[in-house]
Amino acid sequence: MHIAGIRHSYERDHHINIVCFKSKYPDQFWLFCNMKILLADNRTVTIRSLFETDKDPLYHYLQNLSPESRSRFGPHPFDKQTIDIICEHPDNEIQRFIAESESTTAIVAYMLIKQGMIASDQQRYAQRNQFYEYDTTVTYAPSVADAWQSSGLGTAMHTIIETELKRKGIQHIISWGGVQSSNIKAVNFYKKNGYRFIDFFWHDGKNNQDMVKEIG
Ligand SMILES: CC(C)(COP(=O)(O)OP(=O)(O)OC[C@H]1O[C@@H](n2cnc3c(N)ncnc32)[C@H](O)[C@@H]1OP(=O)(O)O)[C@@H](O)C(=O)NCCC(=O)NCCS
Repeated sequence: MHIAGIRHSYERDHHINIVCFKSKYPDQFWLFCNMKILLADNRTVTIRSLFETDKDPLYHYLQNLSPESRSRFGPHPFDKQTIDIICEHPDNEIQRFIAESESTTAIVAYMLIKQGMIASDQQRYAQRNQFYEYDTTVTYAPSVADAWQSSGLGTAMHTIIETELKRKGIQHIISWGGVQSSNIKAVNFYKKNGYRFIDFFWHDGKNNQDMVKEIG
């Protein structure tokens, strides 16, 4: 991997310093994006794409999410076979990002960006006469390890991902499968990051809400 060492650095409200080592080839930036973030509590993480070698750390990360977090985040099953397939055979339509703790090298956050919409979301939005172009829409599923939640990490990762989505001409970010209305942390997280409430819907015996961010 060729890293040209172009650095960007800025601060946000959580006093997060972001240092970006950008690939020397512009179209490889997305894949090789590798950024170091210093959180307000002085913990440091590196944000990067998921690699094949992340099989075991990702499995460990998902198995160690609390029952509460697991009940809120479920873009795919968390069994070993699924994780091995995800890491060994990357899906062209789904970008996966992780945050790696600098001190332990453990994965401490995992986020997915899918091009377009998942079928059930698309169907629900269509019933409301809301349609989004495949090419300019992505669907987003965020998760942060319990011990790292509320530290600004989720927002920092979102900012990095959104910046790259804008660069690629994406105009809408849809919350993957909506958000459970009882998930106050996530609802606040989406609001804070500029998502607007679309509508409530009932799923699996729970009240949920669709949220969308316009970035175009
Ligand atoms: C939702 C999630 C991704 C947010 O990431 P995070 O790193 O915890 O969030 P941040 O620290 O960046 O906080 C961003 C905003 O979220 C809200 N928030 C964070 N922690 C909160 C808490 N304990 N209570 C209420 N709101 C909270 C606040 O509005 C916060 O902004 P502020 O710091 O200015 O008050 C993370 O908490 C998580 O993984 N939760 C479990 C899985 C999940 O719910 N995924 C989303 C499925 S839709």
